[in-house]
Amino acid sequence: AVNLRGRHLLTLKHHTPYEIQFLLDLSRDLKNKKRAGIRGDLLAGKNVALIFEKPSTRTRCAFTVATIDEGGHPEYLGKNDIQLGHKEDVADTARVLGRMFDGIEFRGFKQSVVEDLAKFSGVPVWNGLTDQFHPTQVLADFLTIQEEFGTLKGIKLVYVGDGRNNMANSLMIGAAKMGMHFVIGSPKSLFPEDGLVAECRKIAQDCQSGAVIEVLDDPKAAVKGAHAVYTDVWASMGEEDKLAERKALLQPYQVNKELMAAIGREEAIFLHCLPAVKGYEVMEDVFESRCSRVFDEAENRMHTIKATMVASIGNL
Ligand code: CP
Ligand code: NVA
Repeated sequence: AVNLRGRHLLTLKHHTPYEIQFLLDLSRDLKNKKRAGIRGDLLAGKNVALIFEKPSTRTRCAFTVATIDEGGHPEYLGKNDIQLGHKEDVADTARVLGRMFDGIEFRGFKQSVVEDLAKFSGVPVWNGLTDQFHPTQVLADFLTIQEEFGTLKGIKLVYVGDGRNNMANSLMIGAAKMGMHFVIGSPKSLFPEDGLVAECRKIAQDCQSGAVIEVLDDPKAAVKGAHAVYTDVWASMGEEDKLAERKALLQPYQVNKELMAAIGREEAIFLHCLPAVKGYEVMEDVFESRCSRVFDEAENRMHTIKATMVASIGNL
């Protein structure tokens, strides 16, 4: 039986396929419960710290609503509220928060900060996005894909755009674990790091998931036969100064009608973690089309984050 009590969620690398599937199944159950109007007490008596160095709509609201839905207390700590990393070092902040809270969410720049919070706080830590990884988003994306196609194994998921950002990295790890056919379509200068691609191929081998990982620079070849086409902003939080350069580089990877037509699969869906910049990485007509599942994904952030917290600190 799967047991995630006390566990962090930092990258998705340390979760087995069974553990990921367990979180998705728990998400589905919690979603059904919420839709039936049943309030729970799985987080009753639990206090959760929500640290945000970067802005957020979905992640902040998902953690807040999920905690309150299950009877817990969320405490938002914005970048000007605490001294994390400047007047107080991460190890000290971690040890203080760990004495008061049952779990800690962190969104910010450096992956090393979320790792240090996990190392020093003594309570479960969940990565709500760093420059490198965004694991809770992947859970929501995979729940959405599973709802659509009934399975993850063998599903062709194609990510086009910035091939080395937090979403590309985390989707690749998740896809490797879950036996998907994962393709990144991006310009060569934005290909994912070789080391991470190799690591993901090794993950696929080690868990015998059957996953295939490909990296291509031809956007139309990349999306061919996709069940789901995924994109993300061309300049992530913290790299706003790169937008002009990226706009020139990534224009051929824009998700528009022409690219969607190159898929050649009737039931293909469009995914985006949001927020989206329409007219850049995706055109409005695709975003608003029948194949778009972006708001299901957004809703699923809440159910999957609830499952993540309940599995590691909940009153089960
Ligand atoms: N997808 C996502 O993480 O959205 P926010 O930045 O609004 O949290
Ligand atoms: N890659 C984006 C994801 C936002 C949810 C960013 O880091 O800004």
